[in-house]
Amino acid sequence: MRILGIESSCDETGVALVDAGVQGVPRLLGHALHSQIEMHQAYGGVVPELASRDHIRRVLPLTDAVLAQAGLALSDVDAIACTRGPGLAGALLVGTGVAHALGVALGRPVHGIHHLEGHLLSPFLSADPPEFPFVALLVSGGHTQLMRVDGVGRYTLLGETIDDAAGEAFDKSAKLLGLGYPGGPALARLAERGDATAYRFPRPLLHSGDLDFSFAGLKTAVLTQVKRLARAAPEGPATSRLADPLSEQEKADVAAGAQAAIVEVLVKKSLAALSDTGLRRLVVAGGVGANTRLRAELNAAAARRGLRVHYPELALCTDNGAMIALAAGLRAQAGLLATDAPAGRFDVAP
Ligand code: KG4
Ligand code: ZN
Repeated sequence: MRILGIESSCDETGVALVDAGVQGVPRLLGHALHSQIEMHQAYGGVVPELASRDHIRRVLPLTDAVLAQAGLALSDVDAIACTRGPGLAGALLVGTGVAHALGVALGRPVHGIHHLEGHLLSPFLSADPPEFPFVALLVSGGHTQLMRVDGVGRYTLLGETIDDAAGEAFDKSAKLLGLGYPGGPALARLAERGDATAYRFPRPLLHSGDLDFSFAGLKTAVLTQVKRLARAAPEGPATSRLADPLSEQEKADVAAGAQAAIVEVLVKKSLAALSDTGLRRLVVAGGVGANTRLRAELNAAAARRGLRVHYPELALCTDNGAMIALAAGLRAQAGLLATDAPAGRFDVAP
């Protein structure tokens, strides 16, 4: 079964074609992505209206590119999957609208997939796919969750953030340091040159005894530290650009300290989830899963305890169409999709 996947929930238009037979390993036949980062950079963040309009411009040319990669035609597609949420309403409407139109035109079923299920299952397209059951750490710009995963569609929430997501903590700290959008990768790059022990940042809920997270306080701690350093700078406090008077080394030290705080909490809580559930496999998915320090610390901790950690391919860590097509394919294999649904029917997976 060849599934065309469309992702348009935020600032990336992703289209992909996945072959997921009734049995066997799903295969990626084609994959194309357009990132809107450059367009939104001037505004310091995603502008929803611009995002929607750009998805409209990109989605069909990307679909053509994917079909060309696979050497197939639209008529070879057996089903269409699209992100149904969560995300920006206008942006989602583009993907779901196009998916539905293709479904009606081609006489194929259309499946609305939860964006986080796409992230969660994305390691199944990697060279080292996990086996069920496992614990999943989902760390994106909007979510931070630990789940017990017993199979496709069999998810139990173990804990989640009570305020900001881990990606948000990266992005907001980056903004306070005057780094551009998207902040996460920029902060991670700057942190490589910093001393993570120069300043101490809080690790909220580290010893709370549950598997919840809280990252809102980190933003305030970073703000306080930046203000303190700005006051101490010879040029005096800046008015418009708070972090301007900081030296490059001070900024790098703050970045490294903030990253270390986020990573330590994510690692400790993931290990606690594994020990609480008695499971020995961890899957890390979502944009923050691309973070090098998080991967290094998780891998080191796992090696010490004889645990396995699985990640999606780096290119599939952030938003993409492949994970949406894959999620639909795995749902179909698990008997959770109406594969014989009437043409153009919009089937919404829970
Ligand atoms: O999964 P994703 O692409 O989109 C959402 O579903 O939110 O995740 C985006 C988030 C952003 O907050 C971004 O700053 C963060 O992932 N991110 C990173 C890195 N790459 C992306 N955070 C830390 N280190 C990275 N290397
Ligand atoms: Zn995402």
